[in-house]
Amino acid sequence: MPERRQSLRVAVVANRKHSVGVAPDAPADALAEYDAEETVEGIMQALRDAGHAPFFLEADETLLDTVRQTRPDICFNIAEGLRGDAREAHVPAVLEMLGIPYTASKVLTHAISLDKAATKRLWRDNDLPTAPFQTFGSEREAVAGPRLAPGLSYPLFVKPVHEGTGMGINDRSIVRNDAELRSQVAWVTRTYHQPALVEPYLSGREFTVGFVGNTLTAGESRRSEFYGNDGFHVFPVLEIDTGRGQVKGIYNTEAKSYAIDSDSAPGYLCPADIPGTLEAKLRTLAIAAFQAIGGLDVGRVDFRSSEDGTVYLMEINTLPGLNPIVSDIIISARAEGVAYSTVIREILDLALGRYGMA
Ligand SMILES: Nc1ncnc2c1ncn2[C@@H]1O[C@H](COP(=O)(O)OP(=O)(O)O)[C@@H](O)[C@H]1O
Ligand SMILES: [Mg+2]
Repeated sequence: MPERRQSLRVAVVANRKHSVGVAPDAPADALAEYDAEETVEGIMQALRDAGHAPFFLEADETLLDTVRQTRPDICFNIAEGLRGDAREAHVPAVLEMLGIPYTASKVLTHAISLDKAATKRLWRDNDLPTAPFQTFGSEREAVAGPRLAPGLSYPLFVKPVHEGTGMGINDRSIVRNDAELRSQVAWVTRTYHQPALVEPYLSGREFTVGFVGNTLTAGESRRSEFYGNDGFHVFPVLEIDTGRGQVKGIYNTEAKSYAIDSDSAPGYLCPADIPGTLEAKLRTLAIAAFQAIGGLDVGRVDFRSSEDGTVYLMEINTLPGLNPIVSDIIISARAEGVAYSTVIREILDLALGRYGMA
């Protein structure tokens, strides 16, 4: 863009699918979270269009050396992390240690958002609507016989506590009795080496709300009209119609893998055909959910409603997928006429603003 005065050296930091090794006993969806080459290239192109000089750094062990050698002005971080229950927090932790600025949320926020139970506790603390839940730490705990927490009754839904992109979710995730619960908890804990989260099965409509922004402190205002008074720009609500496509009822890794306009894909309805009151509620809840965990710059919040139409916060993504074509937040931006390059530039500019580098 001609108005940009300063060209920055921006390192795009990511774990690309083809660079990540998988263990022989890894589940079939093990690579689902990692990024495609076209995502990295899309971000690099958007940064070039904004007048910057982007380059790529792989977010593996080599990052410790490469980031010190290249000393980027700022990192555009989309790294999912390689291992561990707080893996999305690893790159931010390294960059904090080295004093290098980076986009999107900080260490603690990513660690929380990658723990669906910790996230729900914070939401509960903030009186935000999220379904009651319980975790089972191991196969042994499940086999010993699940004593269900008060407030939980069948049908229930079982999912890994530390995954994303619909990993570990299949047609046995909805459980109707103790035997099914035990069996699915055993499978999740054994296959994904982490606790299983159990919560009510929410049988209603599914929505996701993506946004860019930060909470403004008193007296602060955003330079651009793109942002509301609260400091955020919320993209239109996207409804995922899981009644359509190959995988019925759940938006899991397989459902997410189909080309968005193919018959196998779920319906992507944006803006969702919902009353204005519900739209306003979803937008407000999404930002409150983000603020409750201290998120920065970009996020996407998933909702489901129960049979009676009550909406619940399901989970939050502090590194939402930024694929130029298929990612939910980009579908929403497109529906509003906001170009991919604008989303990327705004995320960078939000971070630059926070660091006093704008
Ligand atoms: N309690 C639930 N009831 C019904 N469906 C659920 C529930 N939790 C998750 N799902 C389904 O599984 C999908 C993935 O779950 P989600 O919590 O969004 O995890 P992630 O996207 O991080 O893998 C959701 O998009 C939804 O279709
Ligand atoms: Mg989700």
